[in-house]
Amino acid sequence: MKSTFLIVLLLASAYGQKLPLGPLTEDFQNWLISNGYEADAFDRSDVGPSGSFGGRLKSNERIHNQPVIFVHGTGDAALHVQAPTATGWSRSIQYFMEQNYTNAELYATTWGDTWGAGNVLDSYTTIHTCSFVLNIRRFLQAVIDYTGADKIDVIAHSIGVPLARKAIKGGTLIATDGNCTIGPPLGKKVDTFLGITGPNYGLCTCQLAQTVPAFCNALDGLYPGYTCEDQLLCGYTSSKCEQNNYSVFLEQLNNNKEREAEHIYAMWSDVDEVLLFKGMTWGKPTSRIPGMNGRWISDRNGHIAMKDLTELRQYEAVVHHSI
Ligand SMILES: *[C@@H]1O[C@H](CO)[C@@H](O)[C@H](O)[C@H]1NC(C)=O
Ligand SMILES: *[C@@H]1O[C@H](CO)[C@@H](O)[C@H](O)[C@H]1NC(C)=O
Ligand SMILES: *[C@@H]1O[C@H](CO)[C@@H](O)[C@H](O)[C@H]1NC(C)=O
Repeated sequence: MKSTFLIVLLLASAYGQKLPLGPLTEDFQNWLISNGYEADAFDRSDVGPSGSFGGRLKSNERIHNQPVIFVHGTGDAALHVQAPTATGWSRSIQYFMEQNYTNAELYATTWGDTWGAGNVLDSYTTIHTCSFVLNIRRFLQAVIDYTGADKIDVIAHSIGVPLARKAIKGGTLIATDGNCTIGPPLGKKVDTFLGITGPNYGLCTCQLAQTVPAFCNALDGLYPGYTCEDQLLCGYTSSKCEQNNYSVFLEQLNNNKEREAEHIYAMWSDVDEVLLFKGMTWGKPTSRIPGMNGRWISDRNGHIAMKDLTELRQYEAVVHHSI
């Protein structure tokens, strides 16, 4: 309780300074319209100025740094909408700008429609994995084409991690909202992928609730499987075991050998109040990413603070490839 209060205070004081302001710049919005992305509505004007971020301020602006694309988790948005959960990527973007990154080198859009208080129920009753993954994929592609960058960096949080991993790996997807083709692998265009508190091997809290909430389902949700060799309780295993029968989406994603990036990193926390069980699924950190080059584990940050209070590590990961 005390630490939550402290975080709120910290965030409040940070936001008193210069908050990055969305939405996408006019230059990027015009480019999107003339390049077939109008219907994607990446500016997300329905969310307000916090619905998106990024783009050149002037059309002749040069781009020096590898563009960074930020992918939020469920119930969140591109930038700060409301504390304590929908804080977006405002702090990270502010920090990168303090390190001389420009508007044209930092990108975020809001995927899904579940960030607002009025829509929270929706995240329990429906899941749209194909449409979410396609939306993220098209945004990555748009930023790559618009910036002309050789390589981009991707930083994702929570459920945004498996969704962004799939968007990059490409291929096909069988989902509850239909089947879709994502496209060829994009990993060669990605220098660094950083996954923060991603439920890559499922969520143990979904073990006993396979369909409610919807995001727990075994096809394209976060279902962790019902048994692991002779073990029955996902959250309380002491030894590692071979995880079976977990979400088809996650299993195929983890078995797919395409890399998300040249440099892959993960971060998670022992005290994550959303992942629970020290972030373990069947005795293994669910936020691990197969083939990752490094990881950092916090002993104090909650699920949202892992995104909001790690901006320096995010910067180090994408710029200096260390975590
Ligand atoms: C950002 O630019 C300022 C002014 O040119 C410079 O002093 C500073 O070292 C730069 N910081 C980084 C991280 O490049
Ligand atoms: C998606 O593919 C699966 C497996 O091929 C098939 O059973 C299912 O009917 C397809 N769903 C749709 C909506 O086409
Ligand atoms: C569960 O996984 C095991 C081992 O991979 C497999 O033999 C079995 O058919 C699976 N059961 C279901 C219901 O998918």
